[in-house]
Amino acid sequence: MTQRQHDGRQQHSATDEAWVSVIHKMDEAYADLVRYQVQVEEQNEALEEARNFFDSVQSAMSDVLIACDHEGRIQLVNRAFEELTGRAQASLLGQPMESLCSGESRARLVECLARVRSEPVRDQQVDIDGVDGPVPLALNCSPRFNHRGRLVGIVVAGRPLGELMRAFNELNRAHAELKLAQERLIQAEKMASLGRLVAGVAHELNNPISFVYGNMHALQRYTRRLVEYFDLVQSGASREELRQLRETLRIDKAIADLDSLVEGTMEGAARVREIVNDLRQFSSTQRSEKAPFDLVHVVRSALHWIVKESRREIRVIDRLPDQLEAVGHSGQIHQVVVNLIQNATDAMLEQPDPVLELAAGRADEQVWLTVSDNGPGVAAEHLPHLFDPFFTTKPTGQGTGLGLSISYGIVNGHGGTLTIANRPEGGARACMTLPQDAQGETHG
Ligand SMILES: Nc1ncnc2c1ncn2[C@@H]1O[C@H](COP(=O)(O)OP(=O)(O)OP(=O)(O)O)[C@@H](O)[C@H]1O
Ligand SMILES: [Mg+2]
Repeated sequence: MTQRQHDGRQQHSATDEAWVSVIHKMDEAYADLVRYQVQVEEQNEALEEARNFFDSVQSAMSDVLIACDHEGRIQLVNRAFEELTGRAQASLLGQPMESLCSGESRARLVECLARVRSEPVRDQQVDIDGVDGPVPLALNCSPRFNHRGRLVGIVVAGRPLGELMRAFNELNRAHAELKLAQERLIQAEKMASLGRLVAGVAHELNNPISFVYGNMHALQRYTRRLVEYFDLVQSGASREELRQLRETLRIDKAIADLDSLVEGTMEGAARVREIVNDLRQFSSTQRSEKAPFDLVHVVRSALHWIVKESRREIRVIDRLPDQLEAVGHSGQIHQVVVNLIQNATDAMLEQPDPVLELAAGRADEQVWLTVSDNGPGVAAEHLPHLFDPFFTTKPTGQGTGLGLSISYGIVNGHGGTLTIANRPEGGARACMTLPQDAQGETHG
């Protein structure tokens, strides 16, 4: 082999190597390209999936979603928003957010968009112009930042308040109706209690009135006799004639009777006035301020009417002090006491020797009153229901079952307590406490 040939071959092999390395590099580059291509495709797929996921979540949302840029121009709305406004996303893109509402709502939205730059905005009510008129939304606005922490937009989520407001309004209406019904019940119970009392009152009024009537008759008779006598005096009759007539007409007795007749009549009238006052106190509108009153006086007046009305011999053990000051609406407390005493007397209907025991006092800054009877007591299964409205064990027409429930409301409204328990010795005992200082809300 010549030197030239040798050199030529060497040169040839160097070129081949270069080519091989180039081809090799190209292979690698191609493989990289394919790998990148696969990666890009995979990422595209993931992106598409994320996008689909995001779209489906967005569309499934019943809340409204609006995204806008940092100047408040709409970039995206969800389907709920499109349905609410009847406008497609395409027609909204680039529009200023505030163009979505008008009037006061527009001003409020502008204010929200300005405020959200410094703090998140929660639960702002704004009316968006919907297909069928303004739709109230509760808006939550949050700022959106880019990776460098710069504000790039605002995301607004809105909950349509229509349903909520409707439900709220309905609740409000139901509540108002219930309150009205309750007030009517209280009124009805008041009237029922008053009705029960009226019989007692009529009976009680009858006494002094017939007393006054009788006295007036006697006075009328005496007046006639005196007139007859004075006529004789005027006609200049003799001493003897006058003495005789004085005796016949029993003038001396009439004169001696006059004072006691007038006094008795005045007493009777005073009693009538007392009765009327008691009644007025009971039926007062009871909207007045809480004021100090004598609980014992209230109890005695209630006792008087109930026991009178029951027309039964009821033995009363009176452990009441002479006087006991409480604070509240005396008329309402009178109603409670009437209910308790009425329940006690009702419970003793079958009892041959009914005994009603009343006691009251002061303890732990409270005033207390107990009304006890020797009736059958309350059956264990009834105890938890005594204060339920309409719970009654009395025959139809004899009890509404409202007495205790209303009494409870009244006492509660005074910041006090009302309990009923069976006594170990038999019968039931109702216990009412009232705070010494007025508290709580007015009732009724
Ligand atoms: N002292 C008591 N002894 C036994 N049971 C009682 C007594 N007080 C109340 N109860 C029971 O509690 C029930 C409910 O009493 P509440 O005063 O609320 O209604 P009522 O007396 O039945 O009817 P109303 O008071 O409207 O005329 C009574 O029906 C009775 O069964
Ligand atoms: Mg009752």
